[in-house]
Amino acid sequence: MTFNTTEIEARVRAKTPGSGAAYERSQRSLAGGVSTALRRSAKPYPLFFAGGSGPCLTDIDGNRYIDYTLAWGPLILGHAPQPVNDAIGRQLPLGHTFGAQHELEYRTAELLCQAIPCADRVAFANSGTEIVQVALRLARAYTRRPLYLKFEGHYHGWDDSVLVSYKPSLEQSGVMEPVPVGQGQRPWSGAVVARWNNRESVQAAFAAYPEQISAIICEPLLCNSGCLPPDPGFLSFLRQTADEHGALLVFDEVITGFRLALGGAQEFYGVTPDLATFAKAAAAGLPVSILAGKEFVMEWIADGRVVHAGTLNGNPVSLAATEAALRELAASDFPALHVRGRRLRDGLVDALRAKGVDAVATGEGTCYQLHLQQAVPREYRDTIGANKALYADFLMALLDAGIYALPDGRWYISFAHGDGVVDDTLERVRAL
Ligand SMILES: Cc1ncc(COP(=O)(O)O)c(C=O)c1O
Repeated sequence: MTFNTTEIEARVRAKTPGSGAAYERSQRSLAGGVSTALRRSAKPYPLFFAGGSGPCLTDIDGNRYIDYTLAWGPLILGHAPQPVNDAIGRQLPLGHTFGAQHELEYRTAELLCQAIPCADRVAFANSGTEIVQVALRLARAYTRRPLYLKFEGHYHGWDDSVLVSYKPSLEQSGVMEPVPVGQGQRPWSGAVVARWNNRESVQAAFAAYPEQISAIICEPLLCNSGCLPPDPGFLSFLRQTADEHGALLVFDEVITGFRLALGGAQEFYGVTPDLATFAKAAAAGLPVSILAGKEFVMEWIADGRVVHAGTLNGNPVSLAATEAALRELAASDFPALHVRGRRLRDGLVDALRAKGVDAVATGEGTCYQLHLQQAVPREYRDTIGANKALYADFLMALLDAGIYALPDGRWYISFAHGDGVVDDTLERVRAL
């Protein structure tokens, strides 16, 4: 199957002249015209949005889209959920930040300790990138070891130490030495690289660096490179291996937190790490990040042996949003959302196959990926051969049909996406 991409692109451009002009203008003052590099890859150009409500986004030309990007994950309650709006609205006149203590801090921390299996204590910051650094620093301090183990394809933020072996080429992949992603990164990251769902590679890393690896960190569902779930027993294997070698197990739940279940992937898959990082969905769209961990290691932050700092940490606007989002999510039906998401996922795969396209899907109901290929991938390198050019054409056809999805094949669903929205989406896709 092919899409008449020239015609479709011309239609999309004709419908979005405001975005085209805004992108031109933006590039003259804002480096690259966007605020984070990945947004630049959007075709025909990044759209500019005027507002979002529930499952939908409206661009500055007045076109309305069903949104499956959900701001790259945070909007688990959809756009501008009322309880979160109300909580922010109550806080705004009382002050945006104090640089000092307030009651929302411990109220939110208590909710988090109830919800997250590994959370004896929590600490707040503002982005996923920062909070991962706190987790890795804690692990180094606690174990007195310099290295950490990460997996090929896993993303843990843009700091030099973790932005390695994220999407290496096939030739670069499979090596234990980390491969930096961009220029200017410090040459030493402290990472040792293993392969997802590959036990031998983990054992080989510990054998190669005895008593030097402080932590195993992973995305417990590999969302950033294909939404690839752990093989049955793989997370337990990591738990056991970390324990055997005196290393800590860290789950980077920046995406999976409050998305797979209220208690994240550790609740969903039933394996408890020593430390876990959260961001994105925690405040349903406002900037907050959270480190959750067991008492024995969090006490290193509590007594100041490990430094965790930040001017805006725990600011009351973000925590008002977090508290409201957590209360809303605690009353939400995650299993039903998984069922709805899977119905959409299966419907999308069927619609593509009916058009003669090789398509498979991986992931869970609230976060999954479509791969235009025949084989079901298990690790990052299995995704490299997918038909990305055809997916880009599909994406443009979706945009033309009023559906906004991420360029890498990932789909997120929120509690604002009811059955009617799913039906509507599938109808539009079948009609492409
Ligand atoms: C798993 C994971 N960890 C860390 C990060 C970094 O978070 P942030 O973009 O908030 O710095 C991301 C961002 O996408 C992520 O997906």
